[in-house]
Amino acid sequence: MKIEIKNLKKSFNENLVLKNISLTIEKNKSTIILGQSGCGKSVLIKIIYQLFSFDSGFILYDGKSEVDIDKFSMLFQYGALFDSLKISENIAFTDFINNKTNYERKVLSLMNDVGLDKSIFNRFPSEISGGMKKRVALARALYKNPKLIFLDEPTTGLDPINSDKINELILKVIRKRKITAVTITHDIKSAIKTGDHYYFIDKGIIQDKGDCKKILKTKNKLFKSFITGASIK
Ligand SMILES: Nc1ncnc2c1ncn2[C@@H]1O[C@H](COP(=O)(O)OP(=O)(O)O)[C@@H](O)[C@H]1O
Ligand SMILES: [Mg+2]
Repeated sequence: MKIEIKNLKKSFNENLVLKNISLTIEKNKSTIILGQSGCGKSVLIKIIYQLFSFDSGFILYDGKSEVDIDKFSMLFQYGALFDSLKISENIAFTDFINNKTNYERKVLSLMNDVGLDKSIFNRFPSEISGGMKKRVALARALYKNPKLIFLDEPTTGLDPINSDKINELILKVIRKRKITAVTITHDIKSAIKTGDHYYFIDKGIIQDKGDCKKILKTKNKLFKSFITGASIK
């Protein structure tokens, strides 16, 4: 799905978070949203996902202002799993809470896709590692076969080796399934590796944008200082 955002503005009472955001999310591409903590990245994707309203501007989904948000999926920041539910129940969450029971094969196939051994099917989140939890959260996000997936800081809390593994996995999965991806990160290395296009937000507007492979060649001063501050590993 292609999404076009024009002159989007969003404030919470006196707090003007997004002043004027215009950007395009290309179909079947990986778009990266970069910016300092608190600049409004999560708010922006929640607006696109229609979890928040906005003040002015417009959003077109494949040229229309209406969209079936069931085509979207989100991997929330910290990817919270339900501690009291088994791994399988977490992955099949939407079916599980609706008392549907025949999800076993679908869950096993997804677990295979994200590199989880079937032996953890009946385990609980507290019994698996941080990297495995991310894989479970990704499998849950893929469960409904989304056309577009939002990934809010998908590698937060992981060490560099596990971050690399999760980034590679995400890339593999979105390419194979032809999913449009919108990823928030402040890890430049991840952006270069996993992104096609990037947008850098600061002070409520898009300050820089371009091809992820050329991030390090940017001439934009604000983005340059963000990159150096964010440290390249
Ligand atoms: N539900 C909310 N109600 C009021 N203010 C909010 C809400 N969600 C986010 N904000 C504010 O919006 C700003 C941007 O937040 P956020 O999008 O989470 O930043 P980040 O770029 O780190 O993801 C912050 O100032 C935050 O306090
Ligand atoms: Mg955020």
